[in-house]
Amino acid sequence: MLRGKEMHLSGTEISKALGISRSAIWKHIRSLRREGYQIEARPARGYRLLAVPQHPTQWEIQADLGTEQFGKDIYVFSEVDSTNVVAFRLVMQGAQEGTVVLAESQTRGKGRLGRRWESPAGSNIYLSIILRPKIPPTKLPLITLMAAVACAEAIEEVAGLLPTIKWPNDLLIKGKKLGGILTEADMEMDVINFVVVGIGINCNMTRTSFPPSIQDTATSLQEALGREISRLPLIRAILRNLEQWYTVLVQGRGREIRRRWKELSHIGGKGIAVTFMGTVVEGTALDIDDDGALLVQVGGGGVKRIVAGDVLVRG
Ligand code: BTN
Repeated sequence: MLRGKEMHLSGTEISKALGISRSAIWKHIRSLRREGYQIEARPARGYRLLAVPQHPTQWEIQADLGTEQFGKDIYVFSEVDSTNVVAFRLVMQGAQEGTVVLAESQTRGKGRLGRRWESPAGSNIYLSIILRPKIPPTKLPLITLMAAVACAEAIEEVAGLLPTIKWPNDLLIKGKKLGGILTEADMEMDVINFVVVGIGINCNMTRTSFPPSIQDTATSLQEALGREISRLPLIRAILRNLEQWYTVLVQGRGREIRRRWKELSHIGGKGIAVTFMGTVVEGTALDIDDDGALLVQVGGGGVKRIVAGDVLVRG
């Protein structure tokens, strides 16, 4: 209510408009201040918003979000072990589909295949979302593909750069890794109970702020654009695009996801080597199948179906 107002709003006006008591207003003002909002409170005049916090808050994200379900509940933390782990805990407490967890930093950010995800404070997006898709477990990889498509399109919308996707989930700019997606699910033989999709996007990292071991292979939006970017519109765009593509998925229109994913694919038709648990498959990236597995043309005319691994592009 205070947003965009030059004048003070009195406690009576706010209380009438929101239908809450003066003491409830004061409680809200105190919690907003704790979040970093600067709100002036003047006797006989009322309240005025002076400044919003630097980091994206639940209220900033939800203003103008424009989704039906995604982001209805948003939990923002300054530091967590991993937003995926927090999301799992929230599911146990009954969190609904579309609940979002965000953190400014992660102490044990998780990457794919047991790796660590660099998660320093204040510069990137670390976001997890809870989904309860009614699809068979074999279709689970499609969740990661749809999330990669949604994130690539959100980045294009906000930053004007369209990343490519390296199977299954790497978002690349000029061949360097800008972000990744970690999908973790709780499922039984024939049913998915819930899924947590974790998204990490490097926004305002500079080359030297990456650990030396990944300085040549990682990038950020700031590096690519030559200027800092605001994370808030990007978070909103990610949630909007995720909701749209998720609807496509649960409506059984997986073919549309595959089509878009292939348009954005970094590897189609290229020579690749896929490594998984010590084995290497070399060949040409052909396609992905209905369930999101990678199809590789290998020597002798055969086609191998790969469900997990790391892709190295040969040229
Ligand atoms: C990858 O290895 O490419 C996947 C990286 C996924 C990182 C994100 S950051 C938010 C969420 N929480 C985590 O611990 N990991 C994911």
